[in-house]
Amino acid sequence: MHISAMDNTIENCQEIDADEVHFLESIGKGSFGVVYKALWRGLTVAVKKVETESEVNAFCNEVQQLARVQHENIIYLYGACTSDFQKCLIIEYADGGSLYHLLHNSPNTEYNLAHGISWLLQCAKAVSYLHAIQPRPLLHRDLKPPNLLLTKGAKILKVCDFGTACELSTIMSDNRGSAAWMAPEVFEGKLYTEKCDVYSWGIILWEVMTRRVPFADLGLAVRIMWAVHQKQRPPLVTGCPKLLENLMKRCWDHNQARRPRMEEVVEKISVVIR
Ligand code: ADE
Repeated sequence: MHISAMDNTIENCQEIDADEVHFLESIGKGSFGVVYKALWRGLTVAVKKVETESEVNAFCNEVQQLARVQHENIIYLYGACTSDFQKCLIIEYADGGSLYHLLHNSPNTEYNLAHGISWLLQCAKAVSYLHAIQPRPLLHRDLKPPNLLLTKGAKILKVCDFGTACELSTIMSDNRGSAAWMAPEVFEGKLYTEKCDVYSWGIILWEVMTRRVPFADLGLAVRIMWAVHQKQRPPLVTGCPKLLENLMKRCWDHNQARRPRMEEVVEKISVVIR
């Protein structure tokens, strides 16, 4: 498929006929559009459907980025429907819901440190893969538990929602992402790099260890940003293994140059479950 919508070009992605997609119930919302469970050629799939014209850019971006990546911890793209009447992307269906749902809305689902570390490692591996893409790293820019889906009895984690992903360039200063997981340099309008994903990962580490929503007491996004700008971070976790506490603190360092690379995060976190 090769289409242009405004200045958007989509390549290397299978065109899917909308008539072949049988929509079932709505299962959520992404950075754009509404996500449905659906049937396509006998497969259960997830379909993310564009609702308004203003979402077309994010849609084209997501298809473009997902079509270039292939990793066991990144949601698989079957194809997209890019007609003038209906724009949607058809992706792998993850039957375990999001990590956010498991952590915060499923009090009866228990997990231990090994499970938690396994999710964090799988997420780190996916992001480390994105950051190693040539010629330029791919930044996810909206890493947070609602965008981490679970399958196979919550054992396998898949990163999703590439609506705001982009290649690293020298002029990155647009404000993307979600306040509680957003690195300070991003909302401060400063230049940022792939280290913004490392910051988000550090917040997710805290969230998995505490099973609390970061900055829940602050509420409004502007209040969270003000606090983070003032170098406030989530409270340290009692009983947290030192290795994890140190990694967490390094990942959310105000100075992005002092944060580890995602590759190093993978190495450090692997040691914990070895
Ligand atoms: N919610 C958003 N994307 C999803 C997917 N691919 N599978 C299941 N639930 C989702």
